Parts: sequence; structure tokens; C-alpha cells
Amino acid sequence: KRVAVLISGSGSNLQAILDWQTARGEACGYEVVGVLSNRADAYGLTRARQAGVETAVLDHTRFDSREAFDAELVQAVDAWQPDLVVLAGFMRILTPVFTDHYLGKAVNIHPSLLPKYRGLHTHRRALEAGDSEHGLSIHFVTSELDGGPLIFQQAIPIHADDTETCLQQRVHAEEHKAYPRVTEALARELITYENGAAVCHATNC
Ligand code: GRF
Repeated sequence: KRVAVLISGSGSNLQAILDWQTARGEACGYEVVGVLSNRADAYGLTRARQAGVETAVLDHTRFDSREAFDAELVQAVDAWQPDLVVLAGFMRILTPVFTDHYLGKAVNIHPSLLPKYRGLHTHRRALEAGDSEHGLSIHFVTSELDGGPLIFQQAIPIHADDTETCLQQRVHAEEHKAYPRVTEALARELITYENGAAVCHATNC
């Protein structure tokens, strides 16, 4: 399966997905064919180039509306003819121009146990709320921000002496394990999108 990855920053999840592809070879069922960033200075673009993957930059500040940006985003991503679009730290709110076009094909990773803490600063909010656990979620992308059908969730215990930084690092480390595996499961159609829900076809869901 052809995978396009959308990023805005460091791209450590992109790196994990690329490393998994290298380690697993054809068994992973996917190939990252393009990486797009809305920021030209995103370090993830360097990671992509080092892996020999095509890159594109689409500067959102050039557009008057989210819809206009999304229309060009769809064109740029479609040029790679992806079967799957993986959002990995892509920091733009997407409109139905994008989300309807890729419904069931686009996924996102979010650092919280959704539906808790949509949006930003999830680690700080979980600590401030005195939660005993935090986590990560991977979901299909819909026009509802961080609100699409859940594919995978993992809880991560919060320690009494946790700071925002150290909690964030622990979540990030688990993201790097989970996202490549879920990308593989989607590529191998062990998980599909059906009637607004994620359906698992494997025996060990
Ligand atoms: C991750 O924490 C992800 O959950 C969130 O953005 C961050 C991206 O990190 N959506 P990186 O660019 O993959 O290092």
C-alpha cells in the first residue's frame, strides 16, 4: 500500500514508520511514498529526504481560508496516489474538503485517551486534572477535530512526580511503537473503516 505522511515538526513518528518499513520489508505491507509538511523548516522533511522519500511543502499562510488550503493539500497528496494518509504531528485543523475526500483512508495520532483532551497541551491538562493515567489514541480522521472513529488506544500510568516533559516523553515513546504497527494493520486491511467505525478483522484485536 502507498502511504503519504503529513507532518509539521520533528517527525519522530514518521521516523518510526520509516524504520518499521525498513525492518519489516514487504511484510509491513506499506511503502511511504511521500511526506508533506505545511512548514518548510520541519525536521521531518530532512528525515524523509534521508530515507529517499519524496517531499512537498505547502505553506498554509499563503491561503485565505482553510478550505482553499485543503483543496491544494488534496491535490498535492493525491499526486502520490496514496492508499493511506497518515497524519503524524500535522498541526492544521482540516475541513471536509480534506476529510471527506480521504474518509476511511486518513488516520491521526493524538496524545491523550480520547475523547479526553482533544486539541493542544494534553499532557499538562491531564496532570492538572490529577488523572492517574494518560495515553495515546489513533483514529480515523473526520471533520471533527480529534473526534473520528477510534482504531487503537493505549493507557500510560501517570507517576506522582511526573512533569509535563517527562510524561510527554513516555507517551511519545509508546507512540513510536504503536503507530507503525497500526499503519501495518491498516495496510494489510486487518483494520478497515466501515460505516463510521473501525472494524478489526484479525483474531487478536
Ligand atoms: C505526537 O505527540 C502526536 O501525538 C501529535 O503530535 C506529536 C508529533 O510528534 N499529534 P513527532 O513530530 O512525530 O515527533
